[in-house]
Amino acid sequence: MSYIGRSDKLKNYVSASVLSADMLELGREIKKLEDNGIDMLHFDVMDGIFVNNITFGLPVLQQVRKVTDITLDVHLMIADPLKYVQRFAESGADIICFHIESDSDTLETIKTIRSCGVRAALAIKPATSAESVFEYLPYLDMVLVMTVEPGFGGQSFIPETLDKIRAIRQKITELGLNVNVEVDGGINGTTSAAVREAGANVLVSGSYLFAADNMAEAAKALKEDMSC
Ligand code: DX5
Ligand code: ZN
Repeated sequence: MSYIGRSDKLKNYVSASVLSADMLELGREIKKLEDNGIDMLHFDVMDGIFVNNITFGLPVLQQVRKVTDITLDVHLMIADPLKYVQRFAESGADIICFHIESDSDTLETIKTIRSCGVRAALAIKPATSAESVFEYLPYLDMVLVMTVEPGFGGQSFIPETLDKIRAIRQKITELGLNVNVEVDGGINGTTSAAVREAGANVLVSGSYLFAADNMAEAAKALKEDMSC
C-alpha cells in the first residue's frame, strides 16, 4: 500500500498515440495535441515482422519533427532495433523505446540510443516478466509495460499487467533510481486510475484521447483523479 502515496508524488505525463490520428491531417492533429496540453507524441513504428502490422517510419518522423517541439516518444515494434536507432535519433526522436523481446542485444541497444543523446526506454509485452527488466534499470530513462498485445490500437486493457507495473515501480524505488514507467494500450478515463495507483506515470493513449469531445479534459482525466 505504501506506494499509493509515492506514485501520487510522481509527475504524470500523457503521451498521445498518433496511430489513432487522422493521417491525412497529421499537421492539424499535432497542433491539436499542443493546444490541449498533451505532453508527448507517441509514435508507433511497426515492421510487420515483430508485430502483425505495418505503420510508419523515418520519413514521417522527420516531417513531424519539423512542425513541433513536443517530446517525440518513439515506440519501436521492430525485429532489429539496434540497426535503426541511430537513424531514428537523427530523425528527431527524443525518447526511443524498443522491446526486450526483439533480436537486438538489449544493453548494446540502450547504450547506442544514449550515445545519440536520446533517452532510452525498454518495453515488455504482456507475457514477459517484470523481473526481466530489473538488470537494465540503472541504464534506462523509462520502462514501457505493454498493457495490450502490441500491434493495434483500440484493444482492451489487460488487468494482469498491473502487478508487473507494481513490481517494476517497487524495484525502481528500492534502487533509488529516477526511471519513468510508461503504460501503453487500453488506457482511458477508467483504467488510468489503476495504472497510476500501481506506479505508472507516463500514460499512452490513442483511441480514448482522439475520440474525446474535449481532448484537454480527457488528458486531465488520465493524469489525475477526477472523483473529488
Ligand atoms: C499498440 C500501440 C499503442 C496503441 C495504443 O501496439 O503500441 O501505442 O496505439 O492505442 P489505444 O490507446 O487505442 O489502446
Ligand atoms: Zn505504443
